[in-house]
Amino acid sequence: MSLSGDEGKIKKRVMLAFGTRPEAIKIAPLVHALAAKPEQFDVQVCVTAQHREMLDQVLKVFDIVPDIDLNLMRPGQDLFDVTASVLLGMRDVLREHRPDVLLVHGDTTTTLSASMAAFYLGVPIGHVEAGLRTYDLTAPFPEEFNRQVASRVTRWHFAPTEVSRQNLLAERVPESQIIVTGNTVIDSLFWVLGRIESDSARQASVSLFLDQKLPFDWKRERFVLITGHRRENFGDGFLQICEALKILAGQYPSVRFVYPVHLNPNVQKPVMDILANVSNVHLTEPLDYEPFVYLLKHCHLVLTDSGGIQEEAPSLGKPVLVMREVTERPEAIAAGTVRLVGADRERIVTSVAELLDDESSYRVMARAHNPYGDGKACQRIVDTLRLI
Ligand code: UD1
Ligand code: UDP
Repeated sequence: MSLSGDEGKIKKRVMLAFGTRPEAIKIAPLVHALAAKPEQFDVQVCVTAQHREMLDQVLKVFDIVPDIDLNLMRPGQDLFDVTASVLLGMRDVLREHRPDVLLVHGDTTTTLSASMAAFYLGVPIGHVEAGLRTYDLTAPFPEEFNRQVASRVTRWHFAPTEVSRQNLLAERVPESQIIVTGNTVIDSLFWVLGRIESDSARQASVSLFLDQKLPFDWKRERFVLITGHRRENFGDGFLQICEALKILAGQYPSVRFVYPVHLNPNVQKPVMDILANVSNVHLTEPLDYEPFVYLLKHCHLVLTDSGGIQEEAPSLGKPVLVMREVTERPEAIAAGTVRLVGADRERIVTSVAELLDDESSYRVMARAHNPYGDGKACQRIVDTLRLI
C-alpha cells in the first residue's frame, strides 16, 4: 500500500491482469471505475495479450492504454504455450510491482496462469466472474478447469449471481469471501449501448460502418447472428455447425446469416471452406464491440457457443441457441430465453427453423430480462476493494 500525498490516506495498489477479448470487455468498466477514485487506488493494467488484434479492438473502444503489455500471442499457440508464457511473464511483473491485490477475470488461460503466479508469490487475488460451473472438465475445455483452479487460490470471489455464490459455498468457500455483484458484462453493454443511443453522430458512424460491411438492409431484414470458437467444437463440431448453416441458408433464402469469424485458425478454416460462397451468409472479421452490440440489438436471433453473448442477448430480448451440451450460465435457460442445441447439425437446423417459422415459439424466447446483472457490478467491486 502507499500513502496518498495530500490526505495521508492509505491507497491500495490494484493490478488488473487480462489477455483476451471477453476478459477485456468485462474488465474495462472496472478499470474505469477504479481509476475514477485516484485518492483511493493506484491502478495498473497489465495485459498478457493472449489475444492481440481482438484485445486491441476492445482497448481502443474503452480507451484503455495498458501500463504493462506482455505481448505474448503467437499464431497457432497451444495451451502449453499460453500457460507457460503467462506464468513466467506474470512472475516477473508481480515480483517487480507487488500489488496489494491482483484482479483476474473469468476462465481463460490468462486467468489460470496469472492466478497461479500470484498464488506462488503470495499476492492476494480478486476473481471477477467467480463461481460459474458446469462440473464437467471437458466442457467448456479448458475453461472449467481454469476457473476451478482460480477459485482455489482466490481471496475475494466476485460472483455474478446467486447460483454462482451457491456453487462456491458448496465448495466450502467461506461466505465472508463471496460478494454477489452481477456480471460486469452488463455494465459494459449498458455503457456502450447508452453511448451509441445518446449520440446521433456516433450512431450514424456505427451504422455506416455496418452498412459498408453488410450488403443488405440489416436494420429491417431478418438476420441470424452467429459466433463460435469453443475448443471442444473444433473438428467435427465446427463441420456440423457450418453444414447446418449452409442447409439453413438454402432453406431460408430471404433470411440473412451474419457471422463475424473468430481469428483462431481452427475456426477460420472450416468456416471459409464451407460458407465462403453462400450468398446469404455474410462472413466478416471479428467486429469492434460497438458495432457488434448494435448488430445484437437488431438481429432476429443468436446462434453461438460464446459465454459472454449468452449473458448479453437476454438483456436485449434476443433468443439464443447455444451450440454446446452444457452451460455454466443456467439462469437464462431456466427463464426460457436461452436453449442448448449442441454442435449438432440436425438440432441446429430444427431449432433455428422453429424460431424462424413459429411466431409463438419465437415470442416465448424473445423476452428482455437481466438475469446476469443490473449494470452496477463494478461499483459493488470497488466498494469491496475500498475496505480491504
Ligand atoms: C481464448 C480462451 C477462451 C475464450 C476465447 C475468447 C483459453 C484457453 N481460451 O480462446 O476461454 O473464450 O479466447 O475469444 O484461454 N488469434 C489471432 N488474433 C487474436 C486472437 C486470436 O490471430 O486477436 C488466433 C491466433 O492464431 C491464436 C489463436 O487464435 O494463436 C488462438 O488463441 P487462444 O487465445 O489460444 O485461444 P482462443 O480460441 O482465442
Ligand atoms: N464480440 C465482439 N465482436 C465480435 C464477436 C463478439 O465484440 O465479433 C463480443 C461479445 O459481445 C461478447 C464477447 O465478445 O461480449 C464474447 O467473446 P467470445 O465469444 O470470444 O468469448 P467468450 O465470452 O465465449 O469467452
